[in-house]
Amino acid sequence: MVTEQTGGKIQVLPKSVSSRIAAGEVIERPASVVKELIDNSLDAGSTVITIEARDGGKRLIRVTDDGEGMARADAQLACQRFATSKVRTEQDLLGITTYGFRGEALPSIASVSKLGLLTTRREDQVGTYLVVSGGEVSSVESRATAPGTQVEVNDLFFNTPGRQKFLKSATTEFSHICHVVQQAALARHGTHFRLTHNDHPVLDYPAVMTKTDRILQLYGARFMDRVLQVRGDQPGLRVEGVTVNPYHTRTSRTPQDIFVNNRPVKNSTISHAVYEAYTSFLPKGRHPVFTLFLEVDPVQVDVNVHPAKREVKFSTPERIHGVVKEAIRRPLQKKVVESHPWPTSADESLSSKGSVSHGGLEATVQPREGLLGPRGWQEKRSGASFGLPVQSQFYPGKPDKVVAPSEMSRETTPLYCIEDGHAITVLGQVNRTFLIAQIGAELHVVDQHTVHERVLFERLWRGWLEKSIPAQALLIPEPIELQPHAAVVLQEQLSELSKLGLEIEPFGSRSFVVRSIPSILGQMDYGVLVQDLIDDLSEWKSLDSIEKRIHPVLASMACRGAVQAGRAMSDLEIKQILDDWVQEGFPMTCPHGRRVAMRFSADELNRIFGRA
Ligand SMILES: Nc1ncnc2c1ncn2[C@@H]1O[C@H](COP(=O)(O)OP(=O)(O)OP(=O)(O)O)[C@@H](O)[C@H]1O
Ligand SMILES: [Mg+2]
Repeated sequence: MVTEQTGGKIQVLPKSVSSRIAAGEVIERPASVVKELIDNSLDAGSTVITIEARDGGKRLIRVTDDGEGMARADAQLACQRFATSKVRTEQDLLGITTYGFRGEALPSIASVSKLGLLTTRREDQVGTYLVVSGGEVSSVESRATAPGTQVEVNDLFFNTPGRQKFLKSATTEFSHICHVVQQAALARHGTHFRLTHNDHPVLDYPAVMTKTDRILQLYGARFMDRVLQVRGDQPGLRVEGVTVNPYHTRTSRTPQDIFVNNRPVKNSTISHAVYEAYTSFLPKGRHPVFTLFLEVDPVQVDVNVHPAKREVKFSTPERIHGVVKEAIRRPLQKKVVESHPWPTSADESLSSKGSVSHGGLEATVQPREGLLGPRGWQEKRSGASFGLPVQSQFYPGKPDKVVAPSEMSRETTPLYCIEDGHAITVLGQVNRTFLIAQIGAELHVVDQHTVHERVLFERLWRGWLEKSIPAQALLIPEPIELQPHAAVVLQEQLSELSKLGLEIEPFGSRSFVVRSIPSILGQMDYGVLVQDLIDDLSEWKSLDSIEKRIHPVLASMACRGAVQAGRAMSDLEIKQILDDWVQEGFPMTCPHGRRVAMRFSADELNRIFGRA
């Protein structure tokens, strides 16, 4: 049975409104298509957006989302000019909060490509598949598909050979696409973005808790070591982000990311304010790099000024200028006061190899061998081996909650490619918190808690995927007492938890005993663990996939089972932890997105000490 698919969400704008939309070229190259399609997916409330490209997007761009989808009537309207669900009146143009507002993107794309659109709303029993070629709808049919929308753009500019000739190589066009995806990922850290090129995974940014986590995912730990946090607050205006510390300015200007109300833009007011803030800190020929997010009352921002939505205009630019300048200046001054004088050698320290689109920031787009990491360690890592006895001496509270866990997936930063036989020389422990070691030719400073947490998590997760998390019975079952609502939550999920190796038995209405735990977890405070798990379990009802549910639970187990900061560790234990970490492929963040390690290559050490 086909349900009635009444649309009505999308309407064609009256002339009085459409004539006020900034006119001009919307689609210039494959990356513009990707940007527009991602904008649409974000406006549709998607949590996972997958972008596939072939030949730099010239042959194919496919964007798939899990957003609200469209009814058939709306889908048919969507490819007409000025048909939009986001704006109705002239008044609406004054406080735009969606990415789209012109009703121009799909018709513009459809007029220069062969476009397929497959869409279903959650309430529909069957979806709609449309084909549009050179702007004309050539077929409409019913097709079953998951809720959400998939837009496929084939043979861009096939009917405008002049434009096609203008395109650059597939690599160059793809690098523009990477940039667009990275900008979108920065703008919306709570959304999972994936990008493939010719079927090879290139970028994967699972959802994270904070903008800082997202910056870390994109630009890597090394970048984070070289930036200062920026924060500024005024009524109706907020600035946050990071800016490079004065000792690490660059000769190039990338990245200089600006987001206004989560929209990536170029804006001279903001750029100027940043440069002014740096003036005395900026040696000649050098530039700051920064990623700044401004939140401005939407009525103070005009987004309808550039046909490709790349610019915005503020109604009070002087005020914005002042706030940004001050927000940047404060951490710079603090840093300079705290630190020693200028280094004499020019330190182009942010540059490295491997980035597709950002002038070489480390760990952005390194080639990967799939999500499971390099083959070298895949075969080796079998059983759970790590079992340090753990005393909980110091723990700084419950870690950040894992958001949209399955989106976060197992990999939050690209893995380093490592070869077999990397020798580990343990050099010691600092402040009972950080492990120092030489691994291969590199110096590593590793956070003992997060590294262990990630190793445990990897092994638990693998155990779960393989349906075998070995459990170990406790010699003395541990009693726990819970608040009534917590007891109800736990009671409902006991059988699920037992599949994870955690055997908990009810013992009266609010009491339970822990009988067994996953055997790779050492001793821990089970009461605290169960409390963490209850927080995770309370959210289960709102999570639709089993991965999303299990991820935070395993993350909590790993966190509580991991060695804590403050515990002295023997060289043998350090070696064991690092061995395990290497085996797991050097993951650089814990399951909550916190950093695991800093590493210094031999080259870098030479440079720091003036030997390069
Ligand atoms: N991925 C999607 N999921 C759900 N609805 C969509 C999606 N893509 C487009 N639409 C619907 O189609 C309409 C037309 O999309 P289109 O991108 O052409 O215009 P717009 O987003 O309204 O404005 P703009 O031209 O500024 O992007 C949207 O207003 C929206 O209602
Ligand atoms: Mg749009």
